[in-house]
Amino acid sequence: MKKIFPLCILLLPVHVLFAQSTASLDIEGTGSHQISRHIYGHFSEHLGHCIYDGYWVSEQLAIPKKDRIRLDVVEALKKIRIPNLRWPGGCFADEYHWRDGIGPRNQRPKMINTHWGGVTEDNSFGTHEFLELCELLHTEPYISANVGSGTVDEMSKWVEYLNFNGLSPMTELRKQNGHEAPWKVSFWGVGNESWGCGGNMTAEYYANEYKRYATFARNYPGASLKKIASGANERDYNWTETCMRIIPRHMLWGLSLHYYTVPKNWGNKGSATSFDEQEYFTTLEKCLYMDTLVTKHAAIMDKYDKEKRVALVVDEWGIWTNVEPGTNPGFLYQQNSMRDALIAGITLNIFNNHSDRVRMANLAQTVNVLQALILTDKEKMLLTPTYHVFDLFKAHQDAKYLPIRLKSPDYSVGGRSLPAVSVSASRDSSGAVHISFVNIDPTKKISVQTSLKNISWKSVNGQIVTSKKFTDINTFGQPDRIRVTPFNGARKQGDQLTVELPPLSVVMLELR
Ligand code: AHR
Repeated sequence: MKKIFPLCILLLPVHVLFAQSTASLDIEGTGSHQISRHIYGHFSEHLGHCIYDGYWVSEQLAIPKKDRIRLDVVEALKKIRIPNLRWPGGCFADEYHWRDGIGPRNQRPKMINTHWGGVTEDNSFGTHEFLELCELLHTEPYISANVGSGTVDEMSKWVEYLNFNGLSPMTELRKQNGHEAPWKVSFWGVGNESWGCGGNMTAEYYANEYKRYATFARNYPGASLKKIASGANERDYNWTETCMRIIPRHMLWGLSLHYYTVPKNWGNKGSATSFDEQEYFTTLEKCLYMDTLVTKHAAIMDKYDKEKRVALVVDEWGIWTNVEPGTNPGFLYQQNSMRDALIAGITLNIFNNHSDRVRMANLAQTVNVLQALILTDKEKMLLTPTYHVFDLFKAHQDAKYLPIRLKSPDYSVGGRSLPAVSVSASRDSSGAVHISFVNIDPTKKISVQTSLKNISWKSVNGQIVTSKKFTDINTFGQPDRIRVTPFNGARKQGDQLTVELPPLSVVMLELR
């Protein structure tokens, strides 16, 4: 059972003295389940410069490459132990026909990417190239297959092409195209945003279509699919309820949820780099709404699936702002600030704290699109503040979840308040305990007094991602302004751990 206590609990007298700057935290050392590493997954769509010019570059670009895959991006993503990569969309998935992306590249048909800028897609990056990328990344592929404009037969054949090891028309074709062995893809998305760009379906219609498509997406020997249904948009609880009611449990590994943090509104989303404290506050308030969404969708799933066999898969999340001035509005290229680092830290803490049900998530999108980990400019590449948070949080991957009780001071602006601190904790297979903290207050240092139950430890080490202003960013001229640095603000006092969190900080501690 999850044990996170809201802020409204009265603080002890000693805290009252420092009400705005002291938090208290209890961590229980006996956890019950694992935090799936797949919570730390990513998403790459045929959108703007994510695939093309992000991973897949021109033969002429003078940087280390394997085929046309740029290896600096691969190395950076390997370092944060990217556990899975969702592809080819997004909205693009429901107009993608996989046969257009196999065979000799110069014979592949072209198509229009109608969702994202109306550009011509040359299909030079297809199934083989994506799976080659996954192999280089040491990551698991998560393929999102076409329901909106594709057929049951088309999806069924794709699975056969990918996963069957015997003699069949699709395996012959795969071999002709140079891949003898099946890839054994496991994560399988059946449509994307079927309530919107994936076909504008009703929940009932989709749930029935799901059953039809999923039936013919076969499990081959040694290659069972983990099928994931296209889930709700934000607070469309009816969608979750309907899918859980209509789709039998054995046909459903996961049900997805999409939620983006939009600072202003969909018409004018707000700038990625220029915003005041009021907008900063509102953005974080919207980010924290993920906790409500996950709680409520999970409660609906509990009604139909008490054993929590079906995963809640938040396979699109992150901040969505206006594009950088002068860039193609259809390419969704946005900068990434210290605010985004805090959003990443808060959201990953939320997922960890709901990891009994949330067992997969995918940040949108890895390179050059939305809340990117990496920005590229021809041969140059930079790591964003969000990247560095994923680097810190990788310590939680597949570790045992540890329940927490947190009493946080408020961060208030214009009479509205948010909890200033967010936390999650885990114990890894070597016995080390990791605690991740976020302090969103832009001016106040917060002292966290932590009691640890059933945890014996001798030393504490820390790392931090922080910056003076929430609008600070990394640029190609100054790529390391925000990065991971050592953190010396934690100490052992008897059995207690005291942590001094600087304003605007994401901190990871390791207790041994
Ligand atoms: O990530 C960008 C888009 O957002 C995806 O293509 C779609 O699924 C969502 O609406």
